[in-house]
Amino acid sequence: MKNNCLKYGMVGGGPGAFIGDVHRRAIRLDNTARLVAGSFSQDYDKTLSIGRDLGLDEDRLYDNFQEMAKQEASRDDGIDFVSITTPNNTHYPIAKSFLEQGINVLCDKPVTTTLAEAKELKELADRTDTLFGVSYTFSGYPMVKEARRLIKEGELGELRMIMGEYPDEWLAAPADNKQAAWRTNPDQAGISTCIADIGSHIENTVSYMTGCEISRLSANLDIFVEGRKLDDNGGVMIKYNNGVSGMYWASQIAIGNENGLKLRIFGSKGSLEWHHKNPNLLKFTKLNEAPRMLSRGHEYLGDEAQENSRIPAGHPEGFFEAFANIYSNFAAAVQAKKEKDSIDPSDFDYPKLEEGLRGVKFIEKCVESSKNDSKWIDFK
Ligand SMILES: NC(=O)c1ccc[n+]([C@@H]2O[C@H](COP(=O)([O-])OP(=O)(O)OC[C@H]3O[C@@H](n4cnc5c(N)ncnc54)[C@H](O)[C@@H]3O)[C@@H](O)[C@H]2O)c1
Repeated sequence: MKNNCLKYGMVGGGPGAFIGDVHRRAIRLDNTARLVAGSFSQDYDKTLSIGRDLGLDEDRLYDNFQEMAKQEASRDDGIDFVSITTPNNTHYPIAKSFLEQGINVLCDKPVTTTLAEAKELKELADRTDTLFGVSYTFSGYPMVKEARRLIKEGELGELRMIMGEYPDEWLAAPADNKQAAWRTNPDQAGISTCIADIGSHIENTVSYMTGCEISRLSANLDIFVEGRKLDDNGGVMIKYNNGVSGMYWASQIAIGNENGLKLRIFGSKGSLEWHHKNPNLLKFTKLNEAPRMLSRGHEYLGDEAQENSRIPAGHPEGFFEAFANIYSNFAAAVQAKKEKDSIDPSDFDYPKLEEGLRGVKFIEKCVESSKNDSKWIDFK
């Protein structure tokens, strides 16, 4: 058991919510922390109902997140971190309330709906010396970590070209479920649906795998379904500051595709290919050699891939385990910070607020470029 003395609270993840429940299950997978407090919904009756089901004490089920932040900060046994799993527009005020009380935050992506808000959170987290993680899921997969190691160790030679795609079909027609409702509403989603929701995953996973920094981009965002105000499909051309080129495609109208994140990285000596549908495998091809299929759970993999796995090769690990890895690495940082005066968060392998901030910038730049006839713009 790692970090099993940590306590956490959650905002969001009420009845019928998608990702809050995934976070809770993932945290339980490794006994990373114990859920002790929550404001799971704007509706207090729903918070009470789910909180009771989860076995929480009623005095730690809160009517709203402001009260939760204040009360938890004043308790000797208060939470060590809060997990924020609410719609995009609420991340900023919720994170702010907890940071102001000195409580560590793990927030889902995109971290805010504007870059100005993300910068404010960064300044606040620095000032209050709190840890801030962002649940960019795909960086938690062992074979994504293996790809990162191989690239770092120069196995691909000089990087040349990056292809990233995330096709999905769930918004190919008007949808009236609650997840679709807020994602297509600019008041709750922000300035983008598709790029913010899934294009942001391509941006983060590519950056994590390759370390390449975007220097310029040109985007074309589409709205195909009538009546929508925000993009449901988009392509982005990228130039990175090391001369590498990239192309990203994110789509929520791609019938026949389901969360189909696929990344292909090409270098002068070899290439890598990772597909979310088969996340335990990584295709690695060296120039003039037969392709190799690397598989999770083997000793031939690097330490990061091995340390972030649980069961032997051939037994699939997936989405829950990827979240669990982000949480256990974040919780290790929270635990270390409790034990020492200061820690260096870069020693711990979880997505930081800097990445969240860059992700929000990516969304803003894509929208800006697309609105200007796909003009190439600097990513400063
Ligand atoms: N990392 C990933 O892979 C991933 C996947 C899905 C969603 N997400 C992100 O997670 C967030 C939530 O998405 P979802 O699909 O779970 O949404 P959802 O609509 O299913 O759930 C949101 C929950 O938040 C609650 N909520 C809203 N405002 C609240 C408030 N002020 N106080 C307390 N609770 C409140 C709602 O009642 C609901 O229970 C979004 O930011 C989304 O982008 C990330």
